[in-house]
Amino acid sequence: MRLFETHILSQKEYFELKWFEILRIRSISAIEEYKPEILRAADWFRNYFCEIGLQSELIETVGYPLVYAETSAVANAPVVLVYGHYDVQPPDPLELWKSPPFEPTIRDGNVYARGATDDKGQLLTHVFAVESLLKSGEKLPFQIKFIIEGEEEYGGKGIEHFLHSDEGKKKLACDCVLVSDTSMFKPGQPTITYGLRGIIAFELFLTGPNRDLHSGTFGGSVFNPAIALTKILSQFIDEKGVVQIPEFYDNVIPLTDRERTQFADLDFDDNTFFEKIGLTQGFGETGFSTNERRWVRPTFDINGLTAGYQGEGGKTIIPGKASAKFTCRLVPDQDPNAIADAVRKFIALRIPPGITWELVVQHGAPGMRLDLDRSKFVVPMSKALEETFSCSPVFIREGGSIPIVAEFHCTLGAEVLLVGWGQDDDALHSPNEKFSLTSFHTGILASARFFAELMQQ
Ligand code: BES
Ligand code: ZN
Repeated sequence: MRLFETHILSQKEYFELKWFEILRIRSISAIEEYKPEILRAADWFRNYFCEIGLQSELIETVGYPLVYAETSAVANAPVVLVYGHYDVQPPDPLELWKSPPFEPTIRDGNVYARGATDDKGQLLTHVFAVESLLKSGEKLPFQIKFIIEGEEEYGGKGIEHFLHSDEGKKKLACDCVLVSDTSMFKPGQPTITYGLRGIIAFELFLTGPNRDLHSGTFGGSVFNPAIALTKILSQFIDEKGVVQIPEFYDNVIPLTDRERTQFADLDFDDNTFFEKIGLTQGFGETGFSTNERRWVRPTFDINGLTAGYQGEGGKTIIPGKASAKFTCRLVPDQDPNAIADAVRKFIALRIPPGITWELVVQHGAPGMRLDLDRSKFVVPMSKALEETFSCSPVFIREGGSIPIVAEFHCTLGAEVLLVGWGQDDDALHSPNEKFSLTSFHTGILASARFFAELMQQ
């Protein structure tokens, strides 16, 4: 066993202790009042990097600060940039948590807490891997950098602005961006995710009368904004799951035969998949399998609806306002801005008489796809994964989005390597988010072995 491996195995308790420390910080980016906690989380990472001997600093942005850290530069050697996020999603509904979201609790070999997997636990695997290599006296023959943002869950633009600045391009210059913020295909199955979907997020506000009206006095004589909203939204997809926005599919590249076979060969059962989420069957575009629908097809979804009386009992009104939050998941080559324009036109043509509207584009990011045949880092990563999990990785795509990763590829010309340690049932963004202790510790080992592979090249 190599020294760094012995170190990793001997430090399990310590790594858990440090992980729990950061899990206790409520770094919720979407809610303004948690800003002090966001700043505490950023400080925590900066201090930890300094403690383990990396140069580290906070970088101010238009939004929340970035944490940057680096090992010593090595001339003419590759640079690996580890990306992650220290912010988390809001924990509500709180009453559904079996233990408090910001008090990490171990049950059945899993750690339950908001951010356990997304992304604090996953990100820390690389921090502890680098720490273990350095503490074991390894001299890294290449440079490792870290960039950690605090607004990923909110679609914040701080990191994007920085990445496009001269300072950002210089600081983040690298050959490979390593990200653990995705899931494994199944437990014990190492997984390289070579594509992510993009996203465009909207909020639509409809206004009718200048106040809520009596539905007896006024009903039938004015257009109800809640009806206007549901009528418009219901036209976005048809009964076959096909999005009805003109030009929506224009740049959607069909699946290659190779990908179709690759996905079909995965050990995946629709019934089990839907059963786990309490459904007897799924739904989606005709002609595509569940994984194709989740990974490589674009979508339209409503995320939240607001209109009228929500309290106990009933109230006979025509609400004065109605609004909805909705998103489209996009596939690589679909341009989020073009889709935003198309959505605006689609709505404009459907606004009924007497209703005024405002469409706010909240955030957007393109999808990404890694060219596996041209990758320089997939082979060393596959070796490290094989050694750690005793089987070769599968290659999948993912329906979720990590907004900045496509930008890393375009702006830095770097290869983005997504190697997640999470599981599909980790409940990210839901109550009782968890990350298994085994995944956490195995992730540290696999990450260190990846870096060790690079040392031999
Ligand atoms: N870690 C997720 C991305 C992800 C989602 C990976 C599902 C694997 C499965 C990431 O933190 C995330 O949730 N991203 C947001 C981005 C959005 C708010 C712009 C997402 O996909 O909703
Ligand atoms: Zn995440």
